Amino acid sequence: MALARLGAATLESLLDAIDANNPETGAHVRRVAQYALTLGCAADLDERALHRVERVALFHDIGKIDQAISDIVKEPKKLTPEERRSIMMHPRRGADVLRPLGAFFPELPDGVLSHHERWDGKGYPRGLRGSSIPIEARIVAIVDTFDAVTEARAYSHARSLETAQQIIVKGRGTQFDPDLVDLFASPPVMRDIGRIMRREHAPRKTHGSRRKKASTSSIPDITFRWRSPSPLLRRAGLLRP
Ligand SMILES: [Fe+2]
Repeated sequence: MALARLGAATLESLLDAIDANNPETGAHVRRVAQYALTLGCAADLDERALHRVERVALFHDIGKIDQAISDIVKEPKKLTPEERRSIMMHPRRGADVLRPLGAFFPELPDGVLSHHERWDGKGYPRGLRGSSIPIEARIVAIVDTFDAVTEARAYSHARSLETAQQIIVKGRGTQFDPDLVDLFASPPVMRDIGRIMRREHAPRKTHGSRRKKASTSSIPDITFRWRSPSPLLRRAGLLRP
């Protein structure tokens, strides 16, 4: 139990580092984690597998904790080839950052390394194809794209849930795992995703004030505080009273 708590505290610190570097990225990875859990539940993953998915989702972009990359991402302009190459390093950089934690969370380095792989093998950095891409990364690839489309970024306006859904469906079997896309685009999952999206994008106080209310002292699970109260998660037993 003490070891589990130490592991949770380590991940919590890393998440704080993401927030400190860029609060928008902190909010992005929390949304992605909630969407990923919803899709993971729909895919009938068991609780341990859902925790793995959640961790990869929370830390998939930790390789962007790099001032040079942060600056490039924030600038609303077309990327130069060199800037693009630099951004494409972030899965590898993230995996390197997380490598020491691999003994405790074996899925983390490989999952993070693989989150920009594509189902058709045209992704990066390794060009993995199909089910050789870890399931955590296949799930994160879908929901990361969904969040990128539906959030307003420096270089684009937020678009609707329907537009994001169409973009995901268009990538079925090329960019994304076709079975996971079918699940993601199904009405019950879309309903849950829409609920999370509206809640997370509603104006509210900062994460800091929300997080202070929650106590971590007896709960080794770091992530319960931003889980969605969706029926799917409740059925999977992932929501605490
Ligand atoms: Fe990424």
